[in-house]
This record gives sequence, structure tokens and C-alpha cells, in this order.
Amino acid sequence: MSQIIHRMLRKDPPLAVGGQGIWLRDARGREIIDGSGGAAVACLGHGHPVVIEAIKAQVDKLCYAHTSLFSCEPAEELAEELVGHKPGGLSHAYFVSSGSEAMEAALKLARQYFLEIGQPERTKVIARRQSYHGNTLGALALGGNAARREPYAPLLADAFSHVSPCYPYRDQRDGESDADYVERLAEELEDEFMRLGRDKVMAFCAETVVGATLGCATALPGYFKAMREVCDRYGALLILDEVMSGMGRTGTLHAWEQEGVSPDIQAIAKGLGGGYQPIGGILAGEKVVKALRDGSGTFKHGHTYQAHPVACAAALAVQQVIERDGLLANVRARGEQMEALLHERFGNHRHVGDIRGRGLFWAIELVQDRAGKTVFDPALAVNERVKYAALERGLACYPMGGTIDGKRGDHVILSPPYISSEDEAVMMVDRLAGAVEDVLARL
Ligand SMILES: Cc1ncc(COP(=O)(O)O)c(C=O)c1O
Repeated sequence: MSQIIHRMLRKDPPLAVGGQGIWLRDARGREIIDGSGGAAVACLGHGHPVVIEAIKAQVDKLCYAHTSLFSCEPAEELAEELVGHKPGGLSHAYFVSSGSEAMEAALKLARQYFLEIGQPERTKVIARRQSYHGNTLGALALGGNAARREPYAPLLADAFSHVSPCYPYRDQRDGESDADYVERLAEELEDEFMRLGRDKVMAFCAETVVGATLGCATALPGYFKAMREVCDRYGALLILDEVMSGMGRTGTLHAWEQEGVSPDIQAIAKGLGGGYQPIGGILAGEKVVKALRDGSGTFKHGHTYQAHPVACAAALAVQQVIERDGLLANVRARGEQMEALLHERFGNHRHVGDIRGRGLFWAIELVQDRAGKTVFDPALAVNERVKYAALERGLACYPMGGTIDGKRGDHVILSPPYISSEDEAVMMVDRLAGAVEDVLARL
């Protein structure tokens, strides 16, 4: 057995030994389509020569200089690339090594902002149930992933509370219009502000498109505008977690561009470096950064590897390739194709209740009975079975259980690289459909 503490400890995972384009190769020589880019990470696929060259060049030049004394060229250039044009008013960047670290930084920046402007009583953050913001204790406490929170509940801070997600498939009432449902959710958020104290809340935090926990759940039109209005009414910040849904995954560089709002602080990670280096970051608006600059003059936070030169060089190259090759257009085109393919294959499937997503970020929700939306017995671990059945068919996908409440529900995500071709999209949906049938036949 391996000496690594793997995610599963009773069976060693296969060894991945190579990757090219959308394909991964394991030590047994199997060629596997990376149909989810890991966890929506490998946006350029594997082995991209431009990114590899940029990493090599940076390694030759400079690997590390501590940020208490120095900045470095790739970090400055990456910040310029991301916020030089002030998208949605976001003017500054802060780079860390993961999505969880990005969310920790977002929370601390929000808290420090209110200290700087003389509102120390703001100590609460409202997030949503069935969300995920990371696995470090602050990010885990912020998130609403019931299954991941449960074992660590005694360690989680009580600064965080949770309202309902926007999840029309299960939560929109019969006969309720989209507008009425959105209004109900806005009222729920407002009620939570009132319950906590109207001047006690620092921020409302949400994934713009909910990723792994709920399975590519997009918000209804007007939802984020309504949430923003509630935040503005009570002077709280809007933090959008685009660790999974951002950097082009949904067809626009930022997922919020399709929602008619922009956040005060945004977290990014997976598609930022595409897996070529561990990197995450936050983008923050001028209002927030100015408060710190004019106040204490420091951000009271930091990590040894923040703004790491090699990680920033890789991310810069990834972002430049996305722009240079016009890959967002491909995300949109392949996304439309994938939506059509999924509806063709699963639209009338008796065990698929919902097909949802945007861009190259799609999920199917598996159900025992389509009409009643009943779920499979969680003990059957249907989602896990699909993962292995898909692997047998040469497809890596990203299934998850506990869709509804951390225990009940199964979904499967496809979030392939932005470079995927038309034929490859067909192959991915074919293989997923085959895997689902394999599992159902054996239940
Ligand atoms: C929306 C969201 N936020 C935060 C995180 C945490 O990122 P990381 O695993 O890089 O710490 C994830 C990871 O899946 C995520 O999907």
C-alpha cells in the first residue's frame, strides 16, 4: 500500500503518469479523457507548451523572494492582466496558493475593511446552505456543505450562518414564478440580516454558479441583483466565490458578468492557473483597498508562498493563452453543444431529474424516480459508482453525493478543458451515458 494518506485509504488510486490535451494516461497505459479537468481545474488541458515554457523560463530566472521585502514581475503582470482594466470596479489582486486560502483572504479583507472604516461591530457573514468555499477551518465554517462540515462542527466558528441557495429544481414551489421565487430568497436573506442585527453583517457570500456541492446550479435571472440590493441596503459587502465557476468556465471570464452585478471581493483559483501550478487569488474593489491604504496601511494577513513567482508566471501564461486563442468563444460553443447532447441523452431519462449548467460546466442530477424527484438510497453510492464506471470507459468525471442536504442526492459534473473539440464533447457525453447505464444495470 502507498504511504500517502490518500483520500480513500483502503485502496490505492491509479497512478497518473502523463497528460496531453484533454487526455490523461495512467501507469497501466490507459488513456482517459479528463472530462472534468479534475475539479474544473485543467482549463487548458494538459501539457500546454506555452505554459510549460513560461514556467521553465521563470524557474530559470527566479523561484522565490519573500513578499515582506519584494514583489516580482510575474505577480505584477498577472495583477495587471486581471484587474488593469478594472472589471466591474475590481482594481486590486492578492495571490495565494489555493481556493481555500483565497476565501480565507476574502473573509479577512472584509473584516479588516469594516475595522478600518470604524464599524467593528460587523462580525457576521451570511453564506448559503449546500455551498462550498474550501476546507480550511474558516472557509469550511463559511461554507454550507453539510457532509464536509459535520465531523469538524465543534471547530467551526459561529460567525457564519446560512440561507437557502437558489435551487429551482427542488426549491421553487409549484406555480411559483421565477420572480416570486427570487423575491422569496431575497426576503429570506433580509430576514437573516435582521435576525443577526442590521449593522452586524460584514458580507453575504455565494458561489456565482454553485459548483461541486449542488452540481452546477445557476441562479435564476435577477437573483444576484436582488441579493446585491439587500447587501447594499444594509451596508454589507458582496463576496462572490468563483474559485470553480470563474476564469472563463461559464463562457465569460467572470461568471458574474452574466448576472448584472459585480462583487466587492471575488475569489478565483482553479481556472486561474489551470492546474499547472497551485494558485488562487482574490480581486478586490477600490473602495475596500482604499480603506486599508488610508487607514492602517497594511493588510493584516499573509502566507509564505503568496504571489509565488512560478505560480504567477504559470497563471499569467494560462490567461494569455485563453485570450490569444479566443477560448471563451469555444467554451460558449462547446457549452451549447454539450447542453444539447446532454438533453438528447438524458432529457427523457427516467433516472435523470435535472440537467443544469452554463458554458463548459454541466451537471446531471440522478434520481430514483423522475416524476417524484425521489433520490437513490445513499447507501447505494450511485454517484461513486458512476465515477468508477466512467473510468472503466475512459472518462474522468466529477460525481458527488449529498446534493440536497449532505446526505441525499447524487449528481455528476462534466467540466472539460476549454480546448475541447466537437468530437471530444460527443465522446465525453457518450461515455458518461454508457457509464450511467452500466451502473443502473448493476443496481
Ligand atoms: C467554490 C469553491 N471555493 C473554494 C474551493 C476551495 O479550493 P481549494 O480546494 O483549492 O482549496 C473550492 C474547491 O473545490 C470551490 O469549488
